Amino acid sequence: MLNNSKWISYPYDTKFACPIFKKSISLNGEIKRATLKITSIGCYVACLNKKRIGDFIMAPGFTSTKRVQMQTYDIKELLEKENEMKVILSQGWYKGRINWRANKDLPHRYPALICEIELVYKNGQREYIYSDESWECSLSKITMSDIYDGEHFDNQMSESYSPVKVQDYPHSLIVNQQGPIVKEQEIVLPHRIFKTPKGETVIDFNQNITGYFEISLDAKAGDRVSFSFAEVLDKDGSFYTENYRSAKAEFEYICRDGVQSHKPLLTFYGFRYIRVNEFPCEITKDSVKAIALHSDIERTGYLDSSSPLLNKLFKNIIWGQKGNFLDIPTDCPQRDERMGWTGDAQVFVKTASYNFNVEKFFEKWLTDLRLDQTKSGLVPSVIPQVWGDDWSGAAWGDASTVCPWQIYLTYGNKDILKKQYKSMCMYIKYITSVTKDKYLWTGCEQYGDWLGIDAPAGSYKGASDQDFIASVFYLYSTSLVIKVGKILSKNVEKYERLYANILNKIRKTYKEYKTQTECVIALFFDVAEDKKAVSRQLADMIIKNGKRLQTGFVGTPYLLHALSQNGYSELAYDLLLQENYPSWLYSVKQGATTIWEHWDGVNDKGEFWSKDMNSFNHYAYGSVADWVYGVACGIKTVEEKPGFEEIIIEPTPTKKLSWLSAKIKTKRGVVSSAWFKEGDSFRYEITTPSDTTVIINGKKHFVKKGSYVF
Ligand code: BGC
Repeated sequence: MLNNSKWISYPYDTKFACPIFKKSISLNGEIKRATLKITSIGCYVACLNKKRIGDFIMAPGFTSTKRVQMQTYDIKELLEKENEMKVILSQGWYKGRINWRANKDLPHRYPALICEIELVYKNGQREYIYSDESWECSLSKITMSDIYDGEHFDNQMSESYSPVKVQDYPHSLIVNQQGPIVKEQEIVLPHRIFKTPKGETVIDFNQNITGYFEISLDAKAGDRVSFSFAEVLDKDGSFYTENYRSAKAEFEYICRDGVQSHKPLLTFYGFRYIRVNEFPCEITKDSVKAIALHSDIERTGYLDSSSPLLNKLFKNIIWGQKGNFLDIPTDCPQRDERMGWTGDAQVFVKTASYNFNVEKFFEKWLTDLRLDQTKSGLVPSVIPQVWGDDWSGAAWGDASTVCPWQIYLTYGNKDILKKQYKSMCMYIKYITSVTKDKYLWTGCEQYGDWLGIDAPAGSYKGASDQDFIASVFYLYSTSLVIKVGKILSKNVEKYERLYANILNKIRKTYKEYKTQTECVIALFFDVAEDKKAVSRQLADMIIKNGKRLQTGFVGTPYLLHALSQNGYSELAYDLLLQENYPSWLYSVKQGATTIWEHWDGVNDKGEFWSKDMNSFNHYAYGSVADWVYGVACGIKTVEEKPGFEEIIIEPTPTKKLSWLSAKIKTKRGVVSSAWFKEGDSFRYEITTPSDTTVIINGKKHFVKKGSYVF
């Protein structure tokens, strides 16, 4: 692709200062069609005659460094007789600080751009403009830009152009745009501007968002604007940034003369609060507006209830997804990570696929997973692989099996399975090759029940047996390979034998479960032989703990399911509606506007549990929404007829709420299920776009497309 064009870069490494590239274009007649094809190493913003081309923020997106996506824009409307095209580049995801491996894996690559303009004149003539030695480059007004560290923009810098350097980077890196693009999605206006006890001027947007902002002001040339960003205030009400760790998240702007407005161009921040370090005039609510960015995914899922606290949790889950679906599923959007942590995506994919249409989004990310999976089958901890060494653990690498399977169930398209099947099998092969004990997954470093609050002091890993967790995920992933293999008419006998052997070995080896998470996964993944006893044990543990959970990343997504599947739905509701620490609603009561990474992000004394691993925008525990959609409101997909071609609706109501409702816009139409407490019984309102089995109090009703009341 772009075979006649050359990769062009600034002649030397500009570090975090952004180079700008320029080309003059004169038209020879009236234009019928004009198309720009462009991509870059690093992120780009392209302008024609000072107008931005397209609305893709952080183009060309975050992919494995083995590929870059090319975008195609219709530029006819921007053209004049004489034109000037300019493109600014940053280090972006490819080479910026976020890529911990860039200097090791890509030592000689500078940010570079490659493009082609096709002009079709009304008289039929065609003209092509390619990126090549005829372009010029300069340093731009962006004197620093980095995803972690923010942006500095200096209007006093003037551009001074010189020849570009042609680079011999391969054209084979270039692929067509695959996923949905990142766009400006929502404006969030300041809620209040106030002074902290330390005298800091702070703008509160009342919502933790991912994105940037636009400033508007009247200033003199050389005046400075300087902002810092935070998600929370400390217990004294002062600005708190320690949880951003090494991410500087700065914004500095040197003004020009007059009325002006400005937005950062090549970075994004995770924030609820902005501290105004410097502003040349009085700052008012009209001076700044926040702009939320995320991938252009359509909202499809809605939850609502009679409980305002629960509704706030639902809202926080949606904001958590918006803030972390910025081209890839990230762990968090603010500190020095913002990576595609596989475990986080694995636990959240089901909820994600109900809340929004993420089919194409995951298709793209799973392509990068395939590309960055090692030859041995290991699936790195983060995808795209920009982090440390190639290693990972159970429940993280399993994103390679769980995500394609869920995307298939929600959207019903076999293509994702065809594309991922080999990678799924390789992952099983990898576990089989590294385990110390055959038919278990032992002897490897693991993440365990990450952030489980039964963790021993000083550890992030919950108290659950890490080898047990790993072995159960080995079993689970093998079961998914069997299901997918059968759908694709593959011979899966060897996986069936493997499954039987793993199950047998796990049952022989792990006879007792000592933590909530161990019980949960033993139940949910059909490892427990005496489910009655194990579910009783789990219920007892939870009750003894004041009807409160202790689970981390591994146990939490299945906790309520393990209870409701075994006759403890009311206890599941107790956990969902629990307001004391640790619980979902605890964070809501503490004022959360997104989902916290740690149950104890802020304790009841207002202190932070840690400054190290304490994001306030981490979607993982938002995975509880899949229980609300699938069990509380009871909307279930059918494996044999995925994509809601057939549906089971089996609500599980409780008298602890007056009503609850769920709605999902599926490819076949809207499915919704709501129940209302009416005296001693419940009224159910159901709408379905497909053949559906409605199960109320164990009684089955077969219905066709339509709306029903039970
Ligand atoms: C990330 C997590 C991730 C974990 C695994 C953290 O730093 O933010 O969400 O899954 O590391 O170790």
